[in-house]
Amino acid sequence: MISIRSLTFRYRGGGRDALSSVNLEVPDGDFIGIIGPSGAGKTTLTYAINGVVPHHFPGDFYGEVRINGLDSIDAGSEELARHVGSVFQDIDGQMVASVAEDEILFGLENFGVPRKDIPGRLEEALSAAGIENLRDRSLSSLSGGQKQKVAIAAITALRPSIIVLDEPTGELDPASSRRVFEFLRKLNTEQGITIIIVEQKIMLLCEFAKRLAVMDRGTLVLEGSVAEVLQEGERLEEAGVNIPRVSTLARRLRAGGIYSGPVVSNLGEGETMIRSILKSGSAKHAAF
Ligand SMILES: Nc1ncnc2c1ncn2[C@@H]1O[C@H](COP(=O)(O)OP(=O)(O)OP(=O)(O)O)[C@@H](O)[C@H]1O
Ligand SMILES: [Mg+2]
Repeated sequence: MISIRSLTFRYRGGGRDALSSVNLEVPDGDFIGIIGPSGAGKTTLTYAINGVVPHHFPGDFYGEVRINGLDSIDAGSEELARHVGSVFQDIDGQMVASVAEDEILFGLENFGVPRKDIPGRLEEALSAAGIENLRDRSLSSLSGGQKQKVAIAAITALRPSIIVLDEPTGELDPASSRRVFEFLRKLNTEQGITIIIVEQKIMLLCEFAKRLAVMDRGTLVLEGSVAEVLQEGERLEEAGVNIPRVSTLARRLRAGGIYSGPVVSNLGEGETMIRSILKSGSAKHAAF
């Protein structure tokens, strides 16, 4: 469980608050997507959760961040790392080993996992990520998607209850991006790991996340289920967030009284929406 209360943070030397009075509760087992324009504070919010802020980047920190009951300032970054696994934006900068298997082993050894448990944890992480065949490959020979999987596997081997990812699919093609999301969903549903992900690919996010949080200029401007947030088209536009076109259509149909279901976010749901409208016959009576 993550609880952020009235969090305001300004980097040392920063001209303005990177986070301003942010309140956010993330229950265990959640899958929450963070969106918003560049400079909105998305990365800083992930830093507040994994302790990089203020332990690595100092600054003025007001408010409270609790991770599984631990105060992030009292706990220190090492203790927090036992609860929160992080996949940073710069994936290559995060990797420490030269071979995939060693990347996973490094974390396990560094975390003081008992020797006898290490082989089991390694196999489990490789198999969950579906990368057993990559174990002996050098990291430099892997594709972006494969590297992401190794990085996430190395994190999951440590069994954190929360994983925070900052734009993990930034460099990936659509098919690899989807595979990363499918892996995250598996960790979320099968192991109950809480997923917090900053992501630009809104369609994917809407399909896989349970909730969305929208940041704009350091403020958390919207937060709720995917359908609840998509309904707030104007506020999303103000924040410079593009929503799927099918969601805009659903909003217009709702505003026109033609449709009363949830705001859909993908083509399959859009088709179901249109069929339900045609079936009910309400489109005949309304002009849109
Ligand atoms: N190390 C730092 N020192 C000073 N200011 C910083 C630092 N890192 C970020 N900032 C500032 O904090 C604000 C929020 O930045 P942040 O990186 O959290 O935004 P973001 O939403 O992740 O943006 P992007 O989409 O570009 O990744 C910005 O004004 C940024 O310039
Ligand atoms: Mg960022």
